[in-house]
Amino acid sequence: MAFWNRRKPMDIATAADDPHRLKATLNWPHLVAMGVGAIVGTGIYTLTGVGAGLAGPAVILSFLLCGLICACAAFCYAEMATLIPAAGSAYTYSYHVLGELLAWVVGWSLILEYTVAAAAVAVGWAGHATPLLQAAGWNIPDRLLHGVATGGLINLPAVAIGAAVTLLLIAGTRESATVNILLVLIKLAALLLFMALAAQSFDAARFTPFAPFGYGAVPDGHGSNFGMLGAAAIVFFAFYGFDAVSTAAEETQNPGRNLTIGIIGSMALCTTIYVAVAALAVGAMPYQLFSKAHNAAPLVYILQSLHRGLAARIVAAAVVIAIPSVILVLMYGQSRIFFVMARDGLLPQSLATVSKSRGTPVLMTSITGAVVILMAATLDLNRIVEFANAGTLCAFVAVAACVLVLRKRDPARPRIFNTPAPWLLAPVCIVGCLFLFLIGLTTFTKIWFVVWNALGLVFYFAFGAWRSRLARASA
Ligand code: ALA
Repeated sequence: MAFWNRRKPMDIATAADDPHRLKATLNWPHLVAMGVGAIVGTGIYTLTGVGAGLAGPAVILSFLLCGLICACAAFCYAEMATLIPAAGSAYTYSYHVLGELLAWVVGWSLILEYTVAAAAVAVGWAGHATPLLQAAGWNIPDRLLHGVATGGLINLPAVAIGAAVTLLLIAGTRESATVNILLVLIKLAALLLFMALAAQSFDAARFTPFAPFGYGAVPDGHGSNFGMLGAAAIVFFAFYGFDAVSTAAEETQNPGRNLTIGIIGSMALCTTIYVAVAALAVGAMPYQLFSKAHNAAPLVYILQSLHRGLAARIVAAAVVIAIPSVILVLMYGQSRIFFVMARDGLLPQSLATVSKSRGTPVLMTSITGAVVILMAATLDLNRIVEFANAGTLCAFVAVAACVLVLRKRDPARPRIFNTPAPWLLAPVCIVGCLFLFLIGLTTFTKIWFVVWNALGLVFYFAFGAWRSRLARASA
């Protein structure tokens, strides 16, 4: 069978009526906690400043737009996750529905969503850990706090957190539901504290002019796109992670109801909080001040400037404690996707070998960790974020396309979860993602995304196209 026609059969994916399904134990509060735990990270704590610098007060609309697109994507993920409840997320869905070649492109893009995003979260974490370390008397030279791309030598705190999470994963650490709920509460409490204090200095006059750089995406000549859409292409990062909820589809009681509440609930909660945080940040202080380049902890900076030193330290500490779990989830997800790709024969099997003593894929985790550390040590946050967003937008488009293709190809298949108004929501997701990709992202990122996928295709035609399980089976 030619590679463009190779598709995994739908029937080996667990169907809705399969007796061997996982036990359904989760209810909607678990799913909301899971979603918020995976979603809230560097995006809101760090990129609010970057976004405000690019869009001015209109960054509020950037958050709203991304929330809308991601909510549509989340429904599509839920439908696919219940139809194909196997590891591998967008890559696996694409392999069953769109075929091997596109699945490879999606899997290759997911490396950006997971590995590159983990590096971005590590850099955001470092921006909050540094002032606390300095307050504790650790005088780290400035060139050891920034990567070469931002005028330093190496971002040592980002390296440290990347290495620590890698070691935890090698040791076999998994996210625990109880710890997750605790971390979610810490993250939300810190944002509520920020909102309560920023509200006291709120001045609506700071909303004028509302969109000083317009609503589009205008290149500034220094590698960023100004305007509401330009900022949206960056703050989009703050929303993903919700696929964690859809992967729990099989274990959800009454999934039609609970998944809807879990997905819509976590997206609505995060979008509301993000919009409120952005509005209060812009209203509490002129955005030009907290969005300055290299201000890695804008919310903390705002609190400090409002003479709320203790609250600023509490928010920074909350980030330092709670955000590493986002890196853990992302790197864990990456190892799972690599694992499935190797099992399918698209990557060398040796990479996916599970260590006998630890029960974890040590080689794969170490390689992922090394890439995260290298990127976090050297690169500029905005660049990493845009690159991660490019890969994620590609995955979202693929999942929405899977929903539409399957509705057409196999409308009678029993679905545990039905995307409401699929012919509206899936196209809105596809068009919205393409819009953010083509108009919002910088030319630099788009070129590198093409280079990245060209490299991926070279690898595919040199290896997977001949060695994949399906290729060998058809031969
Ligand atoms: N949404 C996650 C974050 O903002 C990736 O850190």
